[in-house]
Amino acid sequence: MKKIRFTGVVLLLTLTISFLPIPAPAASKQPVRAKHGIVASSSDIASQVGIDVMKAGGNAVDAAVAVGLALAVTHPAAGNIGGGGFMVVRMADGRTTTFDYRETAPKAASHDMYLDKDGKEVKGLSTVGYKAVGVPGTVAGFSMALEKFGTKSWKDVVEPARKLAANGFTVSYDFAAGLRRSRKLLEQFPESKRIFLNDGMFYEWGDTFKQPELAATFARLQEKGPREFYEGKTAEMIAADMKANGGLITLEDLKNYKAIERKPLTGTYRGYEIITMPPPSSGGPALLEMLNMLENYDVAKLEYNSSDKYHLMIETMRRAFADRAEFLGDPAFVDVPTKGLTSKAYAKELTGTIKMDAATPSSVIGHGKPAVYESDQTTHYTVVDAEGNVVTQTYTLNFGYGCGATVKGAGFLLNDEMDDLAAKPGSPNGFGLVQGEANSVQPGKRPLSSMTPTIVLDKEHKLWFAIGSPGGPTIINTVLQVIVNIIDHKMNIQQAIDAPRIHHQWLPDLVQWEPYGLSPDVMKALKAKGHQFQDRPSNMGDAEGIMIDPETGIRLGAADPRADGKAVGY
Ligand code: DON
Repeated sequence: MKKIRFTGVVLLLTLTISFLPIPAPAASKQPVRAKHGIVASSSDIASQVGIDVMKAGGNAVDAAVAVGLALAVTHPAAGNIGGGGFMVVRMADGRTTTFDYRETAPKAASHDMYLDKDGKEVKGLSTVGYKAVGVPGTVAGFSMALEKFGTKSWKDVVEPARKLAANGFTVSYDFAAGLRRSRKLLEQFPESKRIFLNDGMFYEWGDTFKQPELAATFARLQEKGPREFYEGKTAEMIAADMKANGGLITLEDLKNYKAIERKPLTGTYRGYEIITMPPPSSGGPALLEMLNMLENYDVAKLEYNSSDKYHLMIETMRRAFADRAEFLGDPAFVDVPTKGLTSKAYAKELTGTIKMDAATPSSVIGHGKPAVYESDQTTHYTVVDAEGNVVTQTYTLNFGYGCGATVKGAGFLLNDEMDDLAAKPGSPNGFGLVQGEANSVQPGKRPLSSMTPTIVLDKEHKLWFAIGSPGGPTIINTVLQVIVNIIDHKMNIQQAIDAPRIHHQWLPDLVQWEPYGLSPDVMKALKAKGHQFQDRPSNMGDAEGIMIDPETGIRLGAADPRADGKAVGY
């Protein structure tokens, strides 16, 4: 690769820099280092698939599609072809784009479909079973990205996933435990129970897990092409399964599904360019709104884990999430004031309402006036190749193993993404998010998402790092904190991912915190300012990122210690 320069000058620079008064590095493992390409994902097997594709001459987009399909085999809690997501791409020549392959509400969906006759939400209807399913977008999104930027054939990038499904892979400790934890959901659906719970006998660590129906689905997709999913036998299987089980998705819904290429949402933080996902993800707008607010403070000076720093972060998050609830939704249905929400002037106005000595209760916050909770449930991965092309993408079935149902005969799980719409505007959804009419249920609508795949450029407009995470609404704050850790606290990609996180989402008015993440003294100081905390800590996210060492061009990869992923390089 062209970019790596191992010169004496670099060595000298490095030695000089090491004498500068920079903070001692936080105790983290070193990131994975590679000269050519890296994949950081939630599955070591899938990461290796991406490396193999690049070694065979493929670029980051080829690898990303192959990794995504492999994750549908090796990480079925979130990896999928029955769900959807968002991909942000930046090619080495500077072209940037995003692919929105978010699910859509079926044509027969309606505003009150999750309410009983008294207007109360029917528990579980938007999260479990066939009525919870949005029209899947993954196959359409992957094939669109491949067509636009890939160099390999669709058949070639599907092949590793087909092989993994047909020949099986060795069940890890985490994989077996995850399936056991989801027993209650999966055993409700005979096909899911048979495939994922070994008919109730469970898979053990060390077993080989084969998925012949899924392998056959991949073989059909290879033979007939990606539209097979929407118009061929696979589509017929989905529609038949829906009909037999009270689901709403029809052959027409599948045929009409389209992935959308969207212009990335861009902004800056302390002069660094941020490239992220626009609506229907709230991730990009909320991230930029928060970074713009933080830019008005000397965050580094507040020190990484001081109570003042946490206070500022919480107040920032609270305000952005209040706006998220009010303004954000599918841009095809609502006018999202993205420009206003992400303007520096608006952020400045918002920071005027932050008091450094007291929390502002969420009950008095409401939304502003812009110019006009666990982690194996979604999955993020990042790929960089030898040329410097980068793909960062988050996709999901929503909650772990989606709605729990597996398409009969086709071997893949379906999402429960309809729960990301507001089943009852003003009432909390599965993530406790209170959302408004902008995100109410309407046929054909894409549910508002928090997925935030993001790329950051250095001051010479070259790729610096790329990041993303699962975690529902915590995603946005995970990405925010990784960026602040790198830019303000000068951490490397691994340290920035490892460092403890917090989360606030306006409502409920509670700070989520991680085990051992906040000292009792800091918590006491924050409580004295009026902050309230969740009873128990819990880990958030599974961030998977890459960084380019600006001096040497070496690729650094980092997987989140909160989960079982791995960065693999070559
Ligand atoms: O799009 C969203 O915001 C959610 N469906 C993401 C779900 C998720 O991250 C679950 N994982 N923890």
